[in-house]
Amino acid sequence: MPDFPFARRTGWDTSDNALTRTLRRLKAGGASIRDLTVSNPAECAFRFSSLDWIKDLGHPDNARYTPDPRGLLPAREAIAEDYARQGIAVDPERIFLTSGTSEGYSHVFRLIADPGDRVLFPRPSYPLFHFLGDLNDVELDFYDLNFEGRWQVDRASVRSRIGARTKAVVVVNPNNPTGSYCGNEDREFLRDMCGSRAALISDEVFFDYSLEARRPSSLLQGAGALTFVLNGLSKALALPQMKLSWIVVGGPPEVVRDAMRRLEVIADTYLSVGAPAQNAAPRWLARKETVQSEIRQRLTENLACLRRQTAGLGARLYPVEGGWYAVLRLPEGADEETVVLELLDRHQVLAHPGYFFDFPESRPHLVLSLLTPPEVWKEGGRGIAEYVKG
Ligand SMILES: Cc1ncc(COP(=O)(O)O)c(C=O)c1O
Repeated sequence: MPDFPFARRTGWDTSDNALTRTLRRLKAGGASIRDLTVSNPAECAFRFSSLDWIKDLGHPDNARYTPDPRGLLPAREAIAEDYARQGIAVDPERIFLTSGTSEGYSHVFRLIADPGDRVLFPRPSYPLFHFLGDLNDVELDFYDLNFEGRWQVDRASVRSRIGARTKAVVVVNPNNPTGSYCGNEDREFLRDMCGSRAALISDEVFFDYSLEARRPSSLLQGAGALTFVLNGLSKALALPQMKLSWIVVGGPPEVVRDAMRRLEVIADTYLSVGAPAQNAAPRWLARKETVQSEIRQRLTENLACLRRQTAGLGARLYPVEGGWYAVLRLPEGADEETVVLELLDRHQVLAHPGYFFDFPESRPHLVLSLLTPPEVWKEGGRGIAEYVKG
C-alpha cells in the first residue's frame, strides 16, 4: 500500500531508542529498576495523593453549561487570589484557562506566530518544545544558559539568534531541568530584547518550588514587553490528571487588550477545560501548601542525600534553586549514551541522559527526578556512586 501523505510536521522518528529497548529487556527478565526519572506525582508515594480530591468534583454547578472563553470566573478569581497571597497583583480578566500548559503554549503560538516565524527557547531545557514548535508551525532557535556559579542567560547567544522573524522568547522560570530562576537582570535584558516586536513567554509551572530563602520573581512583575505567563495544577498541585492550567497576559495595556481580544477567539474555539475541574479549583487551591510543603521536603531531602552520595567522586551536582530535577555532571570520559545504558544494565538505575534536554554532549550529564520515593532514590544514588567509582 502506498504511504499516506501525512502532514510533514508529523514525520517524527517514533522508534524506540536504545534506553527504552534496554529497559524493556531488563523488565522482561524480571529486573527491579531504580527509576530516577519518575515524575508522575501519583506514583511517588506522597501522603497528599490520598487526600479526597474527588469529592470536590461533585459541585452542583457541574450540571450547568455556562461557557466563558476565559474560563469560569470563580476559578480565575481563586487563581488571582493565590497570586495575591504571593504579593503579585493579577486581574482575573487577564487569566485564560487551558487544559494544560502545553495547550497554553499552543494558544500563544497561534496568537503571535505565522507559519515559519521563529521562537527562541532556552537550552538546556525541556524536550517537549520540539513537538510544540512542530505542531504550531513555528521554527525553533535556541539561546544558551551558561553555568557560572549559577545558570544565567548567555546574552551573546540571545543577541545573535534573535531576528526579524522572532516572535517570542521563552523563559522557563525555574528552568527544567537546571532548576534556575530567571534573575531580575536577565529578565530586564530579555524584555529589552523583545521590545515591542516579540513577546516573552514565561513557563512558571515550577515557580512555587523554590528551595532557597530568596524569593524568586515572576515575569508578571515589572513592566515591559507583551508577556504570557503559563502555569497550572499539574505541577502547582501535582494534579496532572485534572487538566487545568492558565495563561496570564501582561504588558503594555493597549497591546494586552488586543492580545486578549484575539486570545478570546482562540480559547472560545476549543473551550477545552471541563466544568468539574474549574468548579473544584477554588477548593483544591486552598490545599496548595499541604501539597507543596510535602514535595519541597522530598526535594530537599533527596538533594541532600545525593550530595552526600556523590561527594568526592569528581562529579558535579549543580545547585538547584527550584523545581523537581537535579542535574549531575559525571567526570569526563565515557560518552553519555554509554553511561546511561551501563548504569541501567549493570546497576538497574534508570536516569535520563543530558542530551534529552539539549545539554552539550561533550560531557555526560544525568537528569534525575527529585520526586523519586526516598528508598528508591537512595539505592539509585548508591548505584550511580558505584558506577562512577568503577
Ligand atoms: C517546564 C514544563 N512546562 C510545561 C509542562 C507541561 O505541563 P502540563 O502538564 O500542564 O501540560 C511540563 C511538564 O513536565 C514542564 O516540565
